[in-house]
Amino acid sequence: MSESHSNSLPIGVFDSGVGGLTVLKAIRDALPNENLIYLGDTARLPYGTKSPASIARYATQATAKLQETGIKLLVVACNTASAVALDALRAQMAPIPVVGVVEPGATAAVRIRPGGAHLVLATEATVRLGAYSKAIAARDPVAEVREQACEMLVSLAEEGWTSGEITDAIVRRYLREATADSFTPNSIILGCTHFPLLRDTISVIAGDKVEVVDSAITTAAVVRQALQSTGLLRSNETAGELRLLATDGITRFARVGGQFLGTPLQASDVQLVDL
Ligand code: DGL
Repeated sequence: MSESHSNSLPIGVFDSGVGGLTVLKAIRDALPNENLIYLGDTARLPYGTKSPASIARYATQATAKLQETGIKLLVVACNTASAVALDALRAQMAPIPVVGVVEPGATAAVRIRPGGAHLVLATEATVRLGAYSKAIAARDPVAEVREQACEMLVSLAEEGWTSGEITDAIVRRYLREATADSFTPNSIILGCTHFPLLRDTISVIAGDKVEVVDSAITTAAVVRQALQSTGLLRSNETAGELRLLATDGITRFARVGGQFLGTPLQASDVQLVDL
């Protein structure tokens, strides 16, 4: 039986830059037959230091671009955009389902450490909105949550500096700041899609008593469930195709994005688009 047009449409994924590729990778691992289209709004990165109004406008434009190409589900693979604009993006895309990354991240943390003390590393905007504190409190009212803005980690990840002396020193400083009053987290939540690239460094510095949690795998599970419940899983057995779009710097996107995706990329694999 041939699959319907809707089922063969790609899943759209967007982030401010290459960080959301960590989520895309988890989706591709979980759902290898799905077609995927990724948009990195590299021209306007970082979102995390911008005002909610600007972030919402950028996220709306990125969503409109993916909507225009035809998608069956949208993944907002950016914690900052999820924290600021998820409801607005859901209204924009309705009835197409929209999945954010904050709620899956909170679910993953609470599952690993029920009643635990969680340290969230995120962008300034995500921290300002207390997005993780709210999402965790809704799932586990006794959990303790602290959120730490770590803007420099976004630049380190974009630069591909995932380990080494400078990266260690910056991570150490953020963790020291967050735990200065003897706050002892059981888990560190990577509340920014760029941070899984720094996972090993964060994990070593935090020590082996601290669990490092990211939302990618849980988000992929939520995507599967949303496609299943709407009858939109692709039935075709062939490997899905991947299209990559960026709003600036395709050479850099390919160089750094390959690291996030775990597969080398060429600039010719990435299409430059304007929003
Ligand atoms: N990927 C974004 C996030 O998850 C962070 C990068 C940015 O500030 O744009 O919040």
